[in-house]
Amino acid sequence: MRIDIVSVFPEYFDVLNLSLLGKAQDKGLLQVTAHNLRDWTHDVHRTVDDTPVGGGAGMVMKPEIWAQCLDDVLGLPARELENVELTLDDDLPVGQGYGVHATKHGSEVGAAEQSSAIATTQLEHGHKPSQLKQVLIFPNPSAPLFNQQAATELSHAEQLVFGCGRYEGIDARVPRYYAEQGVDVREYSIGDYVLNGGEVAVSAMIEAIVRLIPGFMGNPESIVEESYTGDALLEHRPYTKPTTWRGIAVPQVLISGDHAKVDRYRRDEAIMRTNAIRPDLIEQLDCRRLDKADRKL
Ligand code: ADE
Repeated sequence: MRIDIVSVFPEYFDVLNLSLLGKAQDKGLLQVTAHNLRDWTHDVHRTVDDTPVGGGAGMVMKPEIWAQCLDDVLGLPARELENVELTLDDDLPVGQGYGVHATKHGSEVGAAEQSSAIATTQLEHGHKPSQLKQVLIFPNPSAPLFNQQAATELSHAEQLVFGCGRYEGIDARVPRYYAEQGVDVREYSIGDYVLNGGEVAVSAMIEAIVRLIPGFMGNPESIVEESYTGDALLEHRPYTKPTTWRGIAVPQVLISGDHAKVDRYRRDEAIMRTNAIRPDLIEQLDCRRLDKADRKL
């Protein structure tokens, strides 16, 4: 798998060279490159943001810088309308994006060019190719939650490109534009809290995805058994030796040597913990996958 990350703090991802992720790169299972978004700027200040259209606090990341960068990283051809300045026509409804006068390098574009710009924005939104070859992912606190199912699906992709927003986020036309070009675009939140930027969220997603790449984990069984896979139950609690530590004994059944009983104990504990901590997961359980003993709990 190839992973490209775009960020204004690419050094943040040096940490991915450590530990298991570093080993996966050494083994050739994974190739990670962190790009500095500012390398695609053209001004002396290497500006990546601007004030929000419509007013308000904070700054928004500029779409044209992101697009030049993402076209390169995704391997898409450079666009003719790359540096077009778009100004909203006062007479048209604001916020639709269609009623625009496109001006190229300050002068108005011709009718044919303008209609092609409009046609591009009107392509089917959200088209997804059938195979997971290349996926463009934006971390976003206002997006659907990233979960184990998403991680599993993404672990089969050939290339993942992550775009880390900062400030008030990336101009909303960027994910929309790439979706309209037929790129598989996803936006995910890693939890109901707001971080200062997408870097931490992307690190978490990468770790969750990469450990599911076939051949990554030394013992693949540890993936099958863990929380959120299979039945989507929280995992049972772990114990190691000594069997009594500071006066606290491990549950007796675990030293009984009876594997069926151990399995039963662990599954009961998983169901009861899930019910206590994450009742929402119990509600989503597929009843057909519960066995007779589960129903007695
Ligand atoms: N960026 C800021 N907060 C985030 C979150 N909770 N998830 C994903 N991206 C974010």
